[in-house]
Amino acid sequence: MGNDISFDPNYVKGFVSQDELDEIFPEVQKAHDLLENKNGPGNEFLGWMDLPETIDEGLLREIEDTASDIKSKSDALICIGIGGSYLGTRAAIELLYPEFARQKVFFAGHNLSGEHLRELINELEDKDVCVNVISKSGTTTEPAIAFRIIEDFLIKKYGTDGAKDRIICTTDRKKGALKAMADKKGYKTFVIPDDIGGRYSVLTPVGLLPIACADINIRDLIKGAKSQRERSLECDLEKNMSYKYAAIRNILYRKGKRIEILSDFDYKMFFLGEWWRQLFAESEGKDSKGIFPTTCNLTTDLHSIGQLIQQGERNIFETFLVVKKEDTTYVVPESKDNLDKLNYLAGKDLDFINKRAYDATSEAHFEGGVPNTTIVMPERSAFCLGQLFYFLEKTVAISGYLSGVNPFDQPGVEAYKTKMFKLLGKPGY
Ligand code: PA5
Repeated sequence: MGNDISFDPNYVKGFVSQDELDEIFPEVQKAHDLLENKNGPGNEFLGWMDLPETIDEGLLREIEDTASDIKSKSDALICIGIGGSYLGTRAAIELLYPEFARQKVFFAGHNLSGEHLRELINELEDKDVCVNVISKSGTTTEPAIAFRIIEDFLIKKYGTDGAKDRIICTTDRKKGALKAMADKKGYKTFVIPDDIGGRYSVLTPVGLLPIACADINIRDLIKGAKSQRERSLECDLEKNMSYKYAAIRNILYRKGKRIEILSDFDYKMFFLGEWWRQLFAESEGKDSKGIFPTTCNLTTDLHSIGQLIQQGERNIFETFLVVKKEDTTYVVPESKDNLDKLNYLAGKDLDFINKRAYDATSEAHFEGGVPNTTIVMPERSAFCLGQLFYFLEKTVAISGYLSGVNPFDQPGVEAYKTKMFKLLGKPGY
């Protein structure tokens, strides 16, 4: 359909052959069976698979009503969370929400920078504020510290009862310090389903509430994910774009292409890249395996790491992410004296020029030894973003099984925490 995202393996010739795709297909079938029969590693975290189909109408209405309430009484929403409890929301808002709009969504708790928090609180001193604190475990250090400080700011501003009406906690059904705190203090809560891990949770209340606060149509987002779910049920490399992408990635990885760059051509996609990077790194980087995922925001980064991509070590492959049709563009004006020598572009719009930059870059990188494929979003819309979220989740699930890892856990992130807690004197460490 014209409105659907697509995957174009345009520049892999000479790097990935039809024979290699045929060879890997039985492995794809095995991965498909593990996922669909729900008997592979991490099968207790497969709630994201049917979520777009099964999401409850009552829950969607409650999210929309809460977002309306937040917008009616505040100039700003502070969204506190890190990793999977943060990146998908930010990706959606940065892509689809006008940067300079009045109702602002601010982010906190995704770092330990006191300076960032101080600037945020100073900025919001004279504004009306609501807070959505999001943590599945309810015990993650960064958001917990930010919440303690911001809760204190709200209580000073509105009093305990006033603050209570402005704090919403998105967390586990029963476990964790945040759940216990919300119950004790009477804060409104939304539940993160037990069977959905952080990085697969953007289409739960984790993402849906703050995304709705940014006036993005969450029903369109879900509709997109639902349609992509239906488009990725069949185990067929030509009909299922997740499977084709997963197969190509693994073929390239096995031939020494250890680094994948997701390169977008839109500065508003920066956080989409960040979300993708976390999803792929945490899902595949374990058991001494894993493609190293990194991102480029183009054309900006062509002037920073473009040199390395073109001529550095040939251990890279690239996945472009482009929007086919942009609504709002600027036309380069004609200049009488043409001092900047740009009249050859007069009358051309910026999107046209950006597209030629993409055409040129994909061809040049391919000729320089970097195989590349392209994910095309037909338009910048909630529907297409919903499709994209689901497409990438399904891809990494299959890709993880293809490389023999559990794509749904992240045991490695505990190592630094244990050491840090010891250094900080946390009881029990
Ligand atoms: O994907 C993941 O599981 C992680 O990135 C978590 O989302 C992140 O560590 C935050 O965890 P929590 O939501 O428990 O605060």
